Formats: sequence, C-alpha cells, structure tokens
Amino acid sequence: MNSYEGKTYHVVTYGCQMNVHESEKIRGILSTLNMLETDDVEKADVVVFNTCCIREGAEDRAYNNIMALKKNKEENPNKVIVVLGCMPQQKEGKYDFSKKLKHVDIVLGTHNTNDLAQYLLKYAITKKRIVDIWEKPKSNLESTACVRDDFVNAYVNIIYGCNKFCTYCIVPYVRGREMSRTPQTIYAEVKDLVQNKGYKYITLLGQNVNSYGKDLKEKTTFSELLSYLCTIEGDFKIKFMTSHPMDLGDDLIKTMKREPKIAKTLHLPVQSGSSKILKAMNRHYDIKHYKQIIRKLKHAMPNISLSTDIIVGFPGETEKDFMQTYKLLKYVKYDQVFAFMYSPRTGTPAAKFENQIDEKTKNVRVNKLLRLQKIIQKDQMKKYFNKTYNCLIKFINGVAVGITDGGKEIYIPNYKFVNQNYFALVKVEGIRNHKLSGVIK
Ligand code: SAH
Ligand code: SF4
Ligand code: F3S
Repeated sequence: MNSYEGKTYHVVTYGCQMNVHESEKIRGILSTLNMLETDDVEKADVVVFNTCCIREGAEDRAYNNIMALKKNKEENPNKVIVVLGCMPQQKEGKYDFSKKLKHVDIVLGTHNTNDLAQYLLKYAITKKRIVDIWEKPKSNLESTACVRDDFVNAYVNIIYGCNKFCTYCIVPYVRGREMSRTPQTIYAEVKDLVQNKGYKYITLLGQNVNSYGKDLKEKTTFSELLSYLCTIEGDFKIKFMTSHPMDLGDDLIKTMKREPKIAKTLHLPVQSGSSKILKAMNRHYDIKHYKQIIRKLKHAMPNISLSTDIIVGFPGETEKDFMQTYKLLKYVKYDQVFAFMYSPRTGTPAAKFENQIDEKTKNVRVNKLLRLQKIIQKDQMKKYFNKTYNCLIKFINGVAVGITDGGKEIYIPNYKFVNQNYFALVKVEGIRNHKLSGVIK
C-alpha cells in the first residue's frame, strides 16, 4: 500500500511522438503505483505536464495551462502538480520553474522521468517542493511499464538524444547526446508487441534514427536493425521517424525496398529548399543531394508516401530562398508537409544571428506554402488511381476501409468482411469528392 493507491492521475502531453511515447511510460509508472487514470484535470489527484520547448508557442501553451490550474491547486492543497520534460530542462528557458510557479510541486527534466514514482513517494512524505534537473542521464534507459494510447500502432524508442546541433534547434540541449538501445532489447520489445499484444504497426522513434547504433559497443547500422526486426514472425509492419537526409544511405533504401514488413512511407525533413539556408542551419546536405535521395526513393519504391518538415523565416531567408522552398514542394509533391515559422530558441546559435525575419513576413510565407501544399495534395489524388496498395483493413462507420502505409483511406464499399486489423492488397478504382474507393485483390 502506498499513499497514491486508488488515487487518480491525468497526464497532459505537448510535443513530438517521442514525448507522446514518454507519456505512455509515465502512465505506466503511475499505474504501477496502483493509480487510476482520469480525463478530468481538475479532479485528478496527480497532474503531470510533459512539456515541449521546440517553439515558443509550445511553451506558451503549456505555461498557460499550468497557470490555469493555480486556483484549483489552492482549493485542493493535496493535489500534486508535476512539470517535467523539455521545458524545465532548458538552461535559459522563458519560464523559470525552479523559482517561480510555486503551485507546481515537482519539477523534473528529461533525464529522470523514469524515477517519477520515487519522487512522488518522497513528496508524499516530506510535502516539500522538489526541483531536480540532471545534466545527463543517470538512470537506466529501459523503463518497466508502459500504458499505450493505441491498440494498432505502438511506439518503440530505439535512440535517445541528438548530436546534430542544427543551429535553430533546442533538442540537443534538452535531450542530451545520442544513446542507442541495444538491438536485443528492441527486438524483445517488438516481438512482445506483435506476438503477444497484437500490434500491427511498430513505429521506431528517434530524433535521427539513421544515427542508430553508432554509439554502441557492437556497432550496428539502422538498416541492420531493421533487417533484424523483420525476422520477427507475424502480420505487422514497421515505420520509423525521424530520418535525417545527411545519414540516409543507399543501404536504407535497399532495405526498405526489399523488406515487405517495412511500410513504404518516409518522413524526411528538408527544412528549406535553399542550400544557403541549409548551410546556415548546419544541416550538412544541400538541396541537390536532398533531391537525389528523393529520386532514388521514388525509383526504388514508386508508391512511397513522403512527408517533410519546413521552417520558414530562418534568419537571412530572402524571398529568393523562400521561393526555392516553394519550388521544392512542387518538385517532390509530398503527401504531407509540416511547415513552421522559425522561432528563436535562447541558447541556440541561430537565435543570435543577425537579420532575423519579422513575424509578418514569416506568416505570409508559411501561409503561401500551406496553400500550395493543399493544391498539391488535391492533385496528388490522381496518382492513386489504378494502383494497388498493401493496406491495413479497418472498419470505419460501418464501411470497410483500407489504410495505406502513408495513412490514406481507401473505401471498400462492396466488401463484406468478418474482422479487421489485418493487411490486404487494395486496388483503387474510383475517386470521388476527394475520397478513394477500391476493391480487395
Ligand atoms: N529530429 C527531427 C525533428 C525534430 S523537431 C529532424 O531532424 O528533422 C521537429 C521539427 O520542428 C523540425 O523538423 C523543425 O522543422 C521544427 N523546428 C525545430 N526547431 C525549430 C525552431 N526553432 N523554430 C521553428 N521550427 C523548429
Ligand atoms: Fe533538432 Fe537537428 Fe537534432 Fe533534429 S537533427 S533534433 S532538427 S538538432
Ligand atoms: Fe519538443 Fe522535446 Fe520533442 S522540445 S519536439 S518534446 S524532444
């Protein structure tokens, strides 16, 4: 019996897939204290904010929601509020959790979330505010429990941290250096998820999955890891994110093409279409190289679904630089584009660059890109016609739907099916009102 047994918790998550998965681990930790999850942030006995600081907007959102609980905490002094993750880990963050925001009881960083249970138990005894942020990880990378959000797709971490130091990005400062899990532990986790828990998609996570294994005693490449995981028996597919163009070699393209268990989809952030800006961003590739990778990918896997991240308004981005990004979108024809306005992050080199771009210009540019992408996506529907995709079959509102590796839905109106969550080949035979329809082959 511990003091949290039978009490309720609520986890609020901001940021990337890695943070979403981190929150699944946090829920696992809280459930090992025999706590129960609730949707009600006001009534929860323990509230955990798992934060992100990639852009100022993400920080402001978290801060406002943490502040909104102040009154609730005053009325319920026994409530425990925890803030952890990337925001408190910053050295010079916009909001100072160590001194201000006194209604927050426990403040942790990114390197000690696995020890959340111990911190909560200590707090229950002392009732004294805890602020503990480590410079580096000390605890084991392997967490024990995990309460997953989804029953079809499971996230699996393969590498933590980042060594790339893109000049705009805060991640290397708050997540530390690259640390790969061993192939054996990843294999065991994936095997369990597929064979015992019935997961259909496994999404391998890392800030840069292509760096996987470089730091291990027994050096392994990401392609080798993928091939190894594909030996696991079962009806499942592997996705992964994020890939850095600099480290994406021909071996990965070959492995993706060869292995039917690897989903034919790739998120390949380009950030800018201008080689000058890419250099200033410290991305280590130019646009010629990026386009070459895209050509190779499309040649090897004609049905591949591609997505990207773009930053507009990086310091020094001229209209000409921006138009190169605009043209790149037309060239690649991504299935999805995530475009962000550059947000200066204190402590990163680019925040100190001269020639920062004003917010209005950033806004105009981001909207221009998004408008273009909308047109491209509409136009892209044509490419599905008469093609066959290996889809996950699901039941949506009473109709069978095949979901492609890239997430496109193909309605299968004339199909009487018995169960769902299995893979089958679906041929697209119609496009109407921006919806695809097809038949099972
Ligand atoms: N590791 C991944 C992405 C991590 S962050 C990669 O290398 O691509 C996710 C996205 O946020 C980035 O791809 C980038 O487009 C965006 N981003 C990162 N820092 C940013 C900043 N300071 N301002 C605006 N967008 C940023
Ligand atoms: Fe940030 Fe660059 Fe690392 Fe991605 S690769 S997390 S953008 S520093
Ligand atoms: Fe945000 Fe941290 Fe992810 S800053 S994007 S939650 S690594």
